[in-house]
Amino acid sequence: AKASRSAYVCNECGADYAKWQGQCDACGAWDSLSEVALGAAEAAPAARRDGWAGKVDAPKVTALRDVQHSEDARVPTGIAEFDRVLGGGLVEGAVVLVGGDPGIGKSTLLLQALARMGGALPGLYVTGEESLAQVAGRAMRLGLPIDHLHALAETGVERILEHAVAMRPKVIVADSVQTLWTESLGAAPGSVSQVRESAARLVRYAKETGTTVFLVGHVTKEGGIAGPRVLEHMVDAVLYFEGESGSRFRVLRAFKNRFGAVNELGVFAMGEKGLKEVPNPSAIFLSGGSVAQPGSAVMVTREGTRPLLVEVQALVDASPLSNPRRVAVGLEQNRLAMLLAVLHRHGGVGVGDQDVFVNVVGGMRLQETAADLPVLLAVLSSLRDRPLPDKTVAFGEVGLSGEIRPVPNGEERLKEAAAHGFLRAIVPKANAPKAGMFKGLEVIPVERLSDAMSAAS
Ligand code: TYD
Ligand code: MG
Repeated sequence: AKASRSAYVCNECGADYAKWQGQCDACGAWDSLSEVALGAAEAAPAARRDGWAGKVDAPKVTALRDVQHSEDARVPTGIAEFDRVLGGGLVEGAVVLVGGDPGIGKSTLLLQALARMGGALPGLYVTGEESLAQVAGRAMRLGLPIDHLHALAETGVERILEHAVAMRPKVIVADSVQTLWTESLGAAPGSVSQVRESAARLVRYAKETGTTVFLVGHVTKEGGIAGPRVLEHMVDAVLYFEGESGSRFRVLRAFKNRFGAVNELGVFAMGEKGLKEVPNPSAIFLSGGSVAQPGSAVMVTREGTRPLLVEVQALVDASPLSNPRRVAVGLEQNRLAMLLAVLHRHGGVGVGDQDVFVNVVGGMRLQETAADLPVLLAVLSSLRDRPLPDKTVAFGEVGLSGEIRPVPNGEERLKEAAAHGFLRAIVPKANAPKAGMFKGLEVIPVERLSDAMSAAS
């Protein structure tokens, strides 16, 4: 307990080192290492004797078959879209990191969830960013049932845990993790080591008491939560709250989940009375124009466990630059570059002297390869200044040799497209269903990029 050794942790990727060095070997970032005192973690057993953890049963070695557990130890939050992303509801002792841009709605979502669960599960909302009056004001404005909602304006982890031990909430929300600090470290609140160590304390408390803990984290400009990716390794689930500032839709996405599927999506609409669930989000990511526009392609994505219709837009324009721009919003930039190379090599269409912008409508982020084909079709359509045939959807992975590869759940995607009145679907050959399976939807199976290009013109 007396040791106060330190380690150095990379703020970018979370790699740790015994000694400071200028560049992180793991991710190549420069000057990204921060000192983290190990003494604090090692000192924990002492803190536990006289501190909050003293009231918790001491751990002992147990045969696994004697461990009490229940199969469905999940408690629904009452917000179905939230439960979906969590993997079915709250798990005892789970720690969930909820990240997102400032102002995206993290505090609102968690306050709503806590209030909704209040009757069944006593919750404690710990705020380090807003005053109690602000939190109460918001709860009133949102018309939440607040009888069972308790709040604490505190940023010191030791005190937070004292209150938790006294109150014994089943759920704790710490908003935000960037404001937390622990007395055991000299570093300033907000520093990497403080955030990391404070989070570690809460994680330990959650595990030992079976309390579910939500850590709210602001995404930094670099895209990591709280700067150090280390938090992502410490918690059971990492959820990101995303959305375009102009759009009222918000998407909650699981990036890591020990208790459920990753990439599961929950969709919400923002309103006067807070976040409303969108239980049937199928078509909200379409731009809504009734006539097909040049540069637009609709795909059926299947992020998570349900199909969604999403519109991909491209703008291809002669570039004044010697190094034309490739900008992808809602899509990986490198993937776009790769697809453009395939288009050139195997489709015979070069955009080397053009700027290419690709945007996924509604702030949606596409991660699956099924987006490849629609992206290329949108690019092609913009380049030719000709819309795709009306009411057409597409999906499929594009391989480096110009082949169109199948994607999972083809039939389900087609079913969704048919249900929304689409008339044509350009799909990988291996995804094509038996003839006549979907009434009114003409399925065009393609094997090569060139097939897809002629089907789309
Ligand atoms: P907030 O939950 O404070 O965002 P975060 O905690 O991620 O920084 O929400 C930002 C603002 O938006 C806040 O003033 C409340 C408002 N808001 C609504 O009016 N309705 C909503 O449905 C949501 C989510 C937010
Ligand atoms: Mg907030």
